[in-house]
Amino acid sequence: MTDDLNSLHIEQEQPFHAEDIERLLDACFGPGRFARSAERLREGNTKVDGLCHVAFLDGNICGAVRFWPICVGRRAGLLLGPLAVRSDLRDRGIGLALMKRSLDMAKQLGHPFVVLVGDLPYYERAGFKRIASSELAFPGPVDPARVLVNELVPGAFRGVQGAVTVPPGTNPTGASQGGETKQEVY
Ligand SMILES: CC(C)(COP(=O)(O)OP(=O)(O)OC[C@H]1O[C@@H](n2cnc3c(N)ncnc32)[C@H](O)[C@@H]1OP(=O)(O)O)[C@@H](O)C(=O)NCCC(=O)NCCS
Repeated sequence: MTDDLNSLHIEQEQPFHAEDIERLLDACFGPGRFARSAERLREGNTKVDGLCHVAFLDGNICGAVRFWPICVGRRAGLLLGPLAVRSDLRDRGIGLALMKRSLDMAKQLGHPFVVLVGDLPYYERAGFKRIASSELAFPGPVDPARVLVNELVPGAFRGVQGAVTVPPGTNPTGASQGGETKQEVY
């Protein structure tokens, strides 16, 4: 439902958004957010700056989505997460609008696939589908039913399996390198 979203504005995340986004993520996920298995793929990783987006309503940050380079086995792709929308502004289409903006851009840039850990009934609205549970090994426990993929290039995930890892050469300080990992890494 997007009827009351005329003033919704989505823009690329900038360094000066970081504090507001941290507050939003704390409010949406609570202190346990750093214990999630997907977080192991964000530690020491560098987010793909151009794909991370922030949503504003009436000038205030109301949602955010981030993307990270990962390898699945020997293939490079993206991890989506976290995605968060302010609790008082949910069910208005902000989450889907954020994902659509980023996924459209990722597709244009040639990224082959996006993986996430989340609820299929929600993320299938943005084109994600379930992965056979035996195909991926995360750095920590995940519910296999929540491991989802969106093939931005049709068929790009066919035959892809193995450990999900932070790509080699990622700047361990987390400082921006200003680029994306689109090619096979090895
Ligand atoms: C998940 C989240 C980002 C959705 O944002 P949102 O802006 O409310 O989502 P949208 O408005 O785009 O979509 C809302 C629709 O999705 C449904 N939906 C939302 N979360 C869902 C879920 N986990 N499972 C199934 N459906 C879900 C809503 O019921 C609503 O359905 P409707 O259109 O039939 O009314 C938001 O609820 C949130 O920030 N949650 C806390 C953080 C979180 O769990 N993030 C996801 C991590 S996997």
